Amino acid sequence: MTSAKFPVALATTFALGAFLTLSSSLLAADAASTASPAPAAKTVTFAKDVAPILQARCQECHHTGAMAPMSLVTYEETRPWAKAIRQRVIARQMPPWHIDKTVGVQKFKNDISLSDEQIATIVSWVDAGAPMGDAKDMPAPAVWPAANEWKAAKELGAPDLVVKSDPYTMPAHHQDVWWRPTSDVPLTEPRWVKAVEIRPGTLAGRRITHHAVAYLVQDDPSSLAPGDADFGGRAFFMEWAVGKGYDLYRPDSGKLILPGSQISWDVHIHAVGEEIRDNVEIGIWLYPKGQEPKHRSYLTGFQALRSFQPGLNPRARVGKNIDLPPNSVTQTDNYTVLDRPAQLENFQPHMHLRGKAMTVEAILPDGTTQIVSHVDRFNFNWMNNYIYADDAAPVFPKGTMIHVTAWYDNTRANPNNPDPDQWVGYGDRTVDEMGHAWMNVTYLSDEEYSAWAAKHKPTLQTADVSPNN
Ligand code: HEC
Repeated sequence: MTSAKFPVALATTFALGAFLTLSSSLLAADAASTASPAPAAKTVTFAKDVAPILQARCQECHHTGAMAPMSLVTYEETRPWAKAIRQRVIARQMPPWHIDKTVGVQKFKNDISLSDEQIATIVSWVDAGAPMGDAKDMPAPAVWPAANEWKAAKELGAPDLVVKSDPYTMPAHHQDVWWRPTSDVPLTEPRWVKAVEIRPGTLAGRRITHHAVAYLVQDDPSSLAPGDADFGGRAFFMEWAVGKGYDLYRPDSGKLILPGSQISWDVHIHAVGEEIRDNVEIGIWLYPKGQEPKHRSYLTGFQALRSFQPGLNPRARVGKNIDLPPNSVTQTDNYTVLDRPAQLENFQPHMHLRGKAMTVEAILPDGTTQIVSHVDRFNFNWMNNYIYADDAAPVFPKGTMIHVTAWYDNTRANPNNPDPDQWVGYGDRTVDEMGHAWMNVTYLSDEEYSAWAAKHKPTLQTADVSPNN
């Protein structure tokens, strides 16, 4: 039941690697306690050891009425899934957190992954026959918010403002649709935004909404990131795709909304065999009145695809050159130069069904390179947004090149691949491909960068921006 969704080669390598490390640490623990005649005391049980992990890391999605296909709350509900759970946690596919833990930024605001110890506990529980243990050891049951609650609500409370799109009715059977209505933002004075979250209006709507982009339309050239002019002067406000949470800007940075502004939507909807009527909506969390953050945050799609037209501004984000032959694994990449010092706030790889992996690398003006983030198990069903912790969000000098590389698996080994015998090109449909890294970017002045570099990483300084060189 799970194997159909499992990239086999990858999973085997991972499973093996992880399993060997885990078992050897377990063995080491065993060896250390060989003097003890009571190994039974170490038996891992559901009630004592596993239920608390499921509660902390799984049940938010895996409880009755939530998004996941089965509940993992009681022993009776969990026991039939023991083998599948073992497999998914070793491969680090569940919880859905698919970033490579060995390279790049590793501190996040929204990390939901399991520790090696938690994985070892689950594996040894399953290997021991998945025993229940003593019911008295069970943790008190958790209480979950309503399934369609804003994800940011846990941290930020209810949004200050909700802007809804007009509803759309998707027939049971139909080609993909792009729904592009416009909504007014009900503000009478300028306000600064500190977080945004898009969601389909209803649970049913989640099944047909593949992704939604909200553009902010207002007469304010400085709300445009470099390159946005190519999108008709609409500033990216937020991008949401299946499985994504929210964008929370770094402290003292945000986006400005002016009175009279509008949200222009671009919603990608697909039919699921049942007529569904739904809208999308954006929750907006504001800074208190009168509080003005120092920096603007710009949502930027760093391209992994090249343009067909050489000589075009590389920031124009028109990269559409992609060609995936049948039954092959293909790689594309592109470079974007940061024309000012900048801080990267998050990483959200965007590809479609053939997406396999994506790397963001920074090539500094002094020639040194750094891996910023690498997602090695991209899964189309999970457009995860990896939000860097405040003290881990990387800062780069002016002239740094952001190099994005994307890999596509158009073979049978990719469980999401609808047809490995097709050639695949660029396009909006999920059966076509794309490749870019969504990142919120905060630009710094040269002085701010120098101050940052002096405090953090003197080795990052370059002749261009460092007062010391
Ligand atoms: C953010 C929500 C979320 C979290 C957290 C989460 N899951 Fe899942 N899980 C899902 C969804 C949705 C699916 C079905 C889609 C898929 O397989 O990706 C799924 C699928 C699974 C499956 C495969 C079921 C099948 O049909 O074969 C297993 C096993 C599983 N999860 C176990 C876990 C465990 C164990 C944890 C915690 C350690 C966990 N999940 C955490 C949402 C979640």
